[in-house]
Amino acid sequence: MRIIRAKDYSDMSRKAAGIISAQVILKPDSVLGLATGGTPIGTYQRLIEMNKNGDVDFSNCRTVNLDEYAGLGPEDPQSYRSFMNENLFHHINIDMANTYVPDGKNIDSEGECRRYDGILKKMGTVDLQLLGIGVNGHIAFNEPAKSFSKGTQKVTLTQDTIESNKRFFEKAEDVPRYAYSMGIKSIFSAKRILLIAAGKEKAKILCRSFTGEIEPAVPASVLQMHSELIVIADKDAMSELINVAPELVENAH
Ligand code: F6R
Repeated sequence: MRIIRAKDYSDMSRKAAGIISAQVILKPDSVLGLATGGTPIGTYQRLIEMNKNGDVDFSNCRTVNLDEYAGLGPEDPQSYRSFMNENLFHHINIDMANTYVPDGKNIDSEGECRRYDGILKKMGTVDLQLLGIGVNGHIAFNEPAKSFSKGTQKVTLTQDTIESNKRFFEKAEDVPRYAYSMGIKSIFSAKRILLIAAGKEKAKILCRSFTGEIEPAVPASVLQMHSELIVIADKDAMSELINVAPELVENAH
């Protein structure tokens, strides 16, 4: 596990984009696992710039996204498919046919979970999985639970998550209550995992996830067991972890 402290959001985004672009330069046909939410937007902006400058070529990459709101179709501006199109895919030279997001409009939830797991299986190992972290420790939409999930599931969002995500909607009632989410076992099977975090509201959970017990009540804590985990967090998100376990943090000065 490597925990790297970034100066601020922009520094975190630059560092994360640097790692993703290095992955693609070293293996042009990489399978990238991608996340949505506020945290990766700056990383995606950097990747767009790098792609436009000719520094990184996504034409042979394939991507799988972590999750999608149940009930929202690709045309819905709040869907994660729209988010990915707007914030990354439409601005880089990726083949859209090689980008995968669960189908939120599929009302056959078991069928959709099976279909998405089938896609993941066909893709093979994810080379680099980008993750954010929820204030309750969720990764993808795997909320605190009694056991770690395995494959894709239809999940019920917790009140914490609805509260955090309402900023992307007009009002809290508009936030969907369910989502399709890749399971923890699938996420964990990626060769490398890059978790990014920014802002004071992530300080407590970041510290808890990487210095505390490994338990499904804190889903991100399982990542401590991954042999190729990189965590990049800005000073605010790192503020508690750096007090509790400064020895874990690179450039802790
Ligand atoms: C999104 C996802 C979520 C977010 C998490 C943090 O695809 O899987 O786990 O990474 O909710 O969201 P932000 O970045 O908005 O704080």
